[in-house]
Amino acid sequence: MTKQTIPAAPACTLFLFGANGDLVKRLLMPALYNLSRDGLLDRNLRIVGVDHNPASAEDFAGRLHSFMAERDKGGEGAAKCLDEKLWSRLAKCLDYQTGDFLDPATYQAIGKRIDKTSHGNAIFYLATSPRFFPEVAQRLGEAGLLDESGGGFRRVVVEKPFGTDLASAEALNACLLKVMGERQIYRIDHYLGKETVQNILVSRFSNGLFESFWNNHYIDHVQITAAETVGVETRGAFYDNTGALRDMVPNHLFQLLAMVAMEPPAAFGADAVRGEKAKVIGAIRPWSAKMALKNSVRGQYTVGKQGRKRLPGYRQEANVAEDSQTETYVALKVMIDNWRWAGVPFYLRTGKRMSVRDTEIAICFKPAPYAQFRESELERPKPNYLKIQIQPNEGMWFDLQAKRPGPELVMENVELGFAYKDFFKMTPATGYETLIYDCLTGDQTLFQRADNIENGWRAVQPFLDAWAKDGEVHEYPAGQDGPEAGHELLTRDKREWHRLG
Ligand code: BG6
Repeated sequence: MTKQTIPAAPACTLFLFGANGDLVKRLLMPALYNLSRDGLLDRNLRIVGVDHNPASAEDFAGRLHSFMAERDKGGEGAAKCLDEKLWSRLAKCLDYQTGDFLDPATYQAIGKRIDKTSHGNAIFYLATSPRFFPEVAQRLGEAGLLDESGGGFRRVVVEKPFGTDLASAEALNACLLKVMGERQIYRIDHYLGKETVQNILVSRFSNGLFESFWNNHYIDHVQITAAETVGVETRGAFYDNTGALRDMVPNHLFQLLAMVAMEPPAAFGADAVRGEKAKVIGAIRPWSAKMALKNSVRGQYTVGKQGRKRLPGYRQEANVAEDSQTETYVALKVMIDNWRWAGVPFYLRTGKRMSVRDTEIAICFKPAPYAQFRESELERPKPNYLKIQIQPNEGMWFDLQAKRPGPELVMENVELGFAYKDFFKMTPATGYETLIYDCLTGDQTLFQRADNIENGWRAVQPFLDAWAKDGEVHEYPAGQDGPEAGHELLTRDKREWHRLG
């Protein structure tokens, strides 16, 4: 998607609930800055921070400016060089509303701030703690702020985590849908803002080649990995109540799974794409309690090392219980019960404090039908992989066997590949740019529909239920690739994890 050739989004008043939180300063504001740099924001856009701490618009703008300027000295993500002229243009759009999220007076004040010059268009971005999602939505509804009969659009962006299990996700959906329509709700999963994730669909469905082997006749199994080197950082309290499964699987990893496994949509509109995703996630086989235990591994990092650096164990992290049983690593085997994928296991793993940062999808193909080269030393060639590297070193690579030059018949693994950096100029981005732009323009394709979210929770619920009663949390030293049991999940099927990095 080349944003440079597309028009600026329509004018609107964008309310950022939780304005003093991390998300606004680390990701949303840098993303808005990048959109403004690329000429994709309307001159009449107003951005109003909403939070309980008393502050002025100048305080709000000043705080964001200091963070962005500081970040330029070496942070990750957005533009590396803060252009002061550009910033001051954006700062003029900033405003601030002090208010308690539970107080109806806050919503009266917000109503008065919806700018006439933006045709009554308003977006309410819930970047708050999730416990406020139902409360804020309900009060927005009660104050009449979600009513679109005046002609302007009214949209609500809901951050993750969306629920903590199936029942809570259903309850949150019901609560939102009581005060607004599905087309007003933008449930964010920031993985969908990543270029490499969006590219999975483009590559699959614009290259005829892929469809011919994208099925259980040729694919042996699929591996989806999100390995992180970071620990829980400052989020111990949140993470200890959440764990790796809830934090990463029903949202990010299932988005990747859906992109790989969904059927071609009849059109590239929001409904068709989200309909196919909901179908494939809905086709994940619900395991019995016994099978859920057999097909899952939980791990927790202990003291370890990264290079020479000594790393604390999870239980030594701030705001984590000393006897915590929360998993920082999870590996799962899931099956998709449909014609395309019958019999093809999908192995998923994610973990904190692993050896390298690597988010990738490895499609492993079935071996050649018989041992053609049985007289050579490579009687059993290695399987072919297609690796879709989401981050870092974004790109796609096929692992193939080739003959090493020389009189002997020796096969070697070679790579056919495409690295983004060799073909495209990738301007640094947070991943939120596309999502914010799409919300401003009313394109819901990259946002989760209620059924997508609920199907995701439905598929992980058997693991949550089984773990609540039984099963072990395996230890692994920080800096290593999960517990031994995580490897056994594949070796028992005579397979192995694709090497990380
Ligand atoms: C967040 C999780 O949703 O995704 C974090 O809460 C995780 O725990 C992060 O670190 C990973 O995102 P990314 O874009 O760095 O892969």
